[in-house]
Amino acid sequence: MFNVVLIEPEIPPNTGNVGRLCLATQSTLHLVKPLGFSMDDRQLKRAGLDYWDEVNVRLWNSFNDLQRTQSRKTRYFFLTTKTKRAYYDATFRQDDFLVFGRETKGLPENLLAANIDNCITIPMHGTRSLNLATAVAIVLFEAARQQRC
Ligand SMILES: C[S@@+](CC[C@H](N)C(=O)[O-])C[C@H]1O[C@@H](n2cnc3c(N)ncnc32)[C@H](O)[C@@H]1O
Repeated sequence: MFNVVLIEPEIPPNTGNVGRLCLATQSTLHLVKPLGFSMDDRQLKRAGLDYWDEVNVRLWNSFNDLQRTQSRKTRYFFLTTKTKRAYYDATFRQDDFLVFGRETKGLPENLLAANIDNCITIPMHGTRSLNLATAVAIVLFEAARQQRC
């Protein structure tokens, strides 16, 4: 279905929750190293509950490595608070990649600058950012809604 990319995730329960969201939408979860936890982490599996082993997870040494394996037509959307384009104004297609940043730092500035036309945000008030898994849920299920899956 879709592809969710977490760049250098740090908090196991967030990644566990995102794994569950990916399973629920039949999406692939791509984790870009370094990870802030081991893949055997108890908290990771706990957040993903019994489902973690069913999640389609791919591990990458870098985002460049991931991109090198994809076709040139692959579309990437970068989720950030540093743009004004709302996620609900984007048109999502199956196989799109939704790219999210790490909990403490967000996505690297150079990645955002190089992909400025593909950056989208979840409009919000009164806080600097949303929890990573919450942000994934909002955008992933909007993509699924658009595709009626
Ligand atoms: C906890 S946030 C990162 C916070 C970080 N201090 C920052 O300023 O980017 C983790 C990730 O969730 C996603 N995220 C959180 N809130 C978002 C929002 N309102 N719009 C788009 N993405 C968001 C982004 O991908 C972000 O990199």
